[in-house]
Amino acid sequence: MKGMHIGLTALALAGTLAITAAAQWREQPAGSEDLSRPPLAKSETEGNILAVLDDLDRNQRRGMMNIPVEDGRLLRVLTESIGAKHVVELGTSNGYSGIWLCLALRSTGGKLTTYEIDAHRASLARENFKRAGVDNIVTLVEGDAHQEIKRLTEPIDLIFLDADKEGYVFYLKRLLPLVKPGGLIVAHNMRRPHADPRYLEAITTNPDLETIFLNMEDAGVAVTLKKR
Ligand SMILES: C[S@@+](CC[C@H](N)C(=O)[O-])C[C@H]1O[C@@H](n2cnc3c(N)ncnc32)[C@H](O)[C@@H]1O
Repeated sequence: MKGMHIGLTALALAGTLAITAAAQWREQPAGSEDLSRPPLAKSETEGNILAVLDDLDRNQRRGMMNIPVEDGRLLRVLTESIGAKHVVELGTSNGYSGIWLCLALRSTGGKLTTYEIDAHRASLARENFKRAGVDNIVTLVEGDAHQEIKRLTEPIDLIFLDADKEGYVFYLKRLLPLVKPGGLIVAHNMRRPHADPRYLEAITTNPDLETIFLNMEDAGVAVTLKKR
């Protein structure tokens, strides 16, 4: 009898909690719920890469100007979904965003070319690419990307712009001819610290391009499609 009473009390409590949770869910303004969950590893290799990213996120962000985790996940989804074979990144820093790109590139059989002007950050990136086991698909070019990208001749599936903000227009003009039709140009910091108005103009007034803005509540990302 006593056991049955406890069972009924527990049932009533569970019911109350469920009703309260449902009421709270309804009370949140539409679109404000955080529905995301941490990424789940499908394999041991993916788990190891995610573990390195998590460690960098917790312990090596200082002075590295890394993208937020959600933008890293966005890069991975975009790169993998277009089956990118060649990604070019401007602004490697310690390799954090590059490793997100590589998470996708190891599935697509692609490779990353990434540019960094700062020797200390480039050296950390080399270590981090090795730790994540993706160094075999990365070419890290140490130097001024304004000069170094002039050597690029191979077609590009996706460009990630995250170096000097005033250089975005130059990088776009120089590299757009190499981007395959159907390829993407992803640009960071469209909201914070600020976007170059000339870059915004360039990606929103060209009929060959279609641009959307994402994650604008944070640093902000522009995703630009080079139409087929
Ligand atoms: C915002 S951080 C990049 C962060 C990185 N994408 C990440 O999320 O892990 C910008 C980087 O671009 C580099 N940078 C700035 N101007 C550059 C240039 N002209 N050529 C190459 N790298 C440059 C800086 O040294 C810095 O490490």
